[in-house]
Amino acid sequence: MLNKLMGRKKSEQVDKEKSLDFSSENIPKHIAIIMDGNGRWAKKRGLPRVAGHREGMNVIREIVSTSNEIGVEVLTLYAFSTENWKRPKTEVDFLMRLPERFLNVELPKLIEENVVVRITGERENLPEYTKRAVNKAVEATKENNGLILNFALNYGSRSEIIDGIKSLYKEIEAGEMDINEISESVLSDHLMTANLNDPDLLIRTSGEIRLSNFMLWQLAYSEFWFTDVLWPDFSREHFIEAVRVYQNRQRRYGGV
Ligand code: FPP
Repeated sequence: MLNKLMGRKKSEQVDKEKSLDFSSENIPKHIAIIMDGNGRWAKKRGLPRVAGHREGMNVIREIVSTSNEIGVEVLTLYAFSTENWKRPKTEVDFLMRLPERFLNVELPKLIEENVVVRITGERENLPEYTKRAVNKAVEATKENNGLILNFALNYGSRSEIIDGIKSLYKEIEAGEMDINEISESVLSDHLMTANLNDPDLLIRTSGEIRLSNFMLWQLAYSEFWFTDVLWPDFSREHFIEAVRVYQNRQRRYGGV
């Protein structure tokens, strides 16, 4: 009986590996994810919304290790938008505790796996404990040179663009730049994502088809992949499926 069970388990594993089969060529270098649907996942189970966020945090582990495994260079995760402050205080407090909870457990593994932790967003207004946790992770992984795990935290794209324009204006005013020198790449270098390539692939879970103020400039030529799967149910298999779909798309950047 045991042998039989073990046998079945083994063949299931082989099936799983087969189903993950995908080309190791043309892997998207930068994948950005809008992790949506935590609240609905919890509601469906009669649980408080925060239970969905906790479950959502657990999914991140698998997606980070799969990204590392298949050779993704940058993984950006939309963890908290500038609009999320409007949520009930208990939910905001819970979300603000997640980086600390995640990193307390995961940081040693991230260091070992050569991951670089980065934050894109306004760090100043974060609670001290959130700042402390993310700063520690950024500092502890800064010498690494593997996957960049970029948390978009307290991030809003429109205000990011406004801030970029303001900093350009200051440089022009100070005589450090001429207005005719402004180009797409110059503006890109004045955004919070300076030094990161634009995402090749955007994934949004939970069936919502919108950008929600996320990387409006950076996603101009990205491929989009939407799924009805709620973020806490998102798995390595869904992630690989998104990569596979990406590999079969033709990116033309406006050409033919
Ligand atoms: C959107 O779902 C999700 C969020 C606003 C938070 C996402 C955060 C995580 C998945 C965990 C972050 C973890 C770390 C380590 C930073 P929603 O609440 O809007 O879901 P709903 O649309 O179903 O209500």
